[in-house]
Amino acid sequence: MCGIIGYCGPKKPAQVLIEGLKRLEYRGYDSSGICVNESANQLCIIKSKGKIKELQKKVSPQLAGTYGIGHTRWATHGVVNDNNAHPHKGCNGKVAIVHNGIIENYEKLREVLTEEGHVFTTETDSEVIAHLIEKYYTGDLERAVKDAVSLVKGTYGIVCMHADEPDRLIGARNGSPLVLGIGQNEMFLASDVTAIIAHTKQVVYLEDREVVNITPTSYVTTDLNDQQIEKDIEQITWELQEMEKNGYSCFMEKEIHEQPEAIKRGITGRLSLEEATAKLGGLNLTTKELIQIERVKIIAAGTSFHAGMVGAYLLESVARIPAIAELASEVRYRNPIIEKNTLYFAVSQSGETADTLYAMKELQRKGATVLGVCNVVGSTIARESDGGVYIHSGPEIAVASTKAFTSQITVFYLLSLLLARLRDMSFENGTKIINDMNSIPAKIDKILAGKNKIMELAKKYAHYPDFLFLGRGINYPVALEGALKLKEISYIHAEGYSAAEIKHGPIALINPDTPSIFLIPNDSLREKVISNMKEVKARKGKVIAVAVEGDKEVSDIADDIIEIPETHELFYPFLMVLPLQIFSYYCALELNRDVDQPRNLAKSVTVE
Ligand code: F6R
Repeated sequence: MCGIIGYCGPKKPAQVLIEGLKRLEYRGYDSSGICVNESANQLCIIKSKGKIKELQKKVSPQLAGTYGIGHTRWATHGVVNDNNAHPHKGCNGKVAIVHNGIIENYEKLREVLTEEGHVFTTETDSEVIAHLIEKYYTGDLERAVKDAVSLVKGTYGIVCMHADEPDRLIGARNGSPLVLGIGQNEMFLASDVTAIIAHTKQVVYLEDREVVNITPTSYVTTDLNDQQIEKDIEQITWELQEMEKNGYSCFMEKEIHEQPEAIKRGITGRLSLEEATAKLGGLNLTTKELIQIERVKIIAAGTSFHAGMVGAYLLESVARIPAIAELASEVRYRNPIIEKNTLYFAVSQSGETADTLYAMKELQRKGATVLGVCNVVGSTIARESDGGVYIHSGPEIAVASTKAFTSQITVFYLLSLLLARLRDMSFENGTKIINDMNSIPAKIDKILAGKNKIMELAKKYAHYPDFLFLGRGINYPVALEGALKLKEISYIHAEGYSAAEIKHGPIALINPDTPSIFLIPNDSLREKVISNMKEVKARKGKVIAVAVEGDKEVSDIADDIIEIPETHELFYPFLMVLPLQIFSYYCALELNRDVDQPRNLAKSVTVE
């Protein structure tokens, strides 16, 4: 949440900052701002409510400078307006800061600073940082930043500049990500690599309680006690081109279409037909340790939680290991019991979700081994977990997660296969799973080729106010995911349930204005779900069924049908989720919503 960027170097900083903010916009998009040294010892702050394009209108392309900072906001404290947008400054206008995170003791700090004569001009928690730095500044910005942050309780990724220290920026992090980009006679700081990849691929990830002091040609990393820290320089593997829309009208559309390729990338080099198993190098566990696993617990949030639920189902049914997925936000505060021989997975596309990260840390603190299933290389969960697997789906920019879901479940198919083959799965069955897995990308391509029919259905149904999404077994989490997709990008109210559960309450909602989307694969629960569908039809509910091509029984009952290819019953989540993503996407278009940046949301939820 909130994107921050800093730049010092020979290019016009305002241009670099705005371009970087556009790439960070998925982290928050209610307001934005920049600060540059317009002239010697003079800082110029420009802010605007709304998207970055509103800010851009206010910034002259001629705006001079040699260093600057920028911010795109997802409001936590204070309403959305120009004034509360970052950067914030102290009283004399010489210090400017951008902040991502939450300062928990800001009220107390603000009270003390006000008594000392500081005048606050915004409602934000972040402004206290600027005033604290101003208070402690005696000619050394780095020192002042360290003195300031040592009084702060909460989370921060900050970048600061001072009018009297030209071409220097100080970055500090605790709980909110910050990455340093090393260029040719230029340096960058940003909350994630997307902001700087157009300029450099050489990066250094900061850890909590580290501070970095940069000039165009140097950087020094220290801890809060001034101890210098040697950091490894890492290479970003993503290409700039992967962050462009490449002819698609929006990122969500592009990412939906990228799923066959993303799945292929996720399995490349990880499946062995010779041994009929999967190979996952990053687990950091010996074969003996893998065999000793007695149970698996998966923690995650949102779409990643739904992927974790599919994962838990697979681990139980394929590998016969008791497994459960839990909301990370609940695990953290439940004082979780760490059972012997239990392996934990933290699933997170961004690798920065605060709920998942802090639940992981709590589990690790109690002695658990937690492996990460992440997309963003170098993200905090990826670095701080005890090992893990990258999903390799490439950058996901649209706020609504699509390809990350199918790539995350891909990893769980591989993991289940690996663990099953270490137990009692036969070579023959292992081979079958590999072949089924390999056939999925082509089947998804087939669904994508039929997207126009789904578009027509979306046009027909987008104006209904409420939807139910109903599935069973391994497709129950897919129903939850379908409902989440629809509500987050089209703002249509939707609920996901196990189809069996509707008779325990939700069936009361059924009326001609509440369509139900039934997921009816060719599996052992098919007849049961068909009965549930009949119950809905008997109450005059409209039904859209997602079912296997040629399923006459289902098409005779449903009002509309979306056909998918047949597959092994365990693999339907891949094929069921695609039509739901496409349906939500076209409903959002029909309702004229901002598909990539839906209201009130942000891609990377780095606050609790
Ligand atoms: C929904 C969505 C969110 C995220 C959730 C977790 O489309 O994107 O529900 O899935 O915020 O994010 P990650 O996976 O980054 O931990």
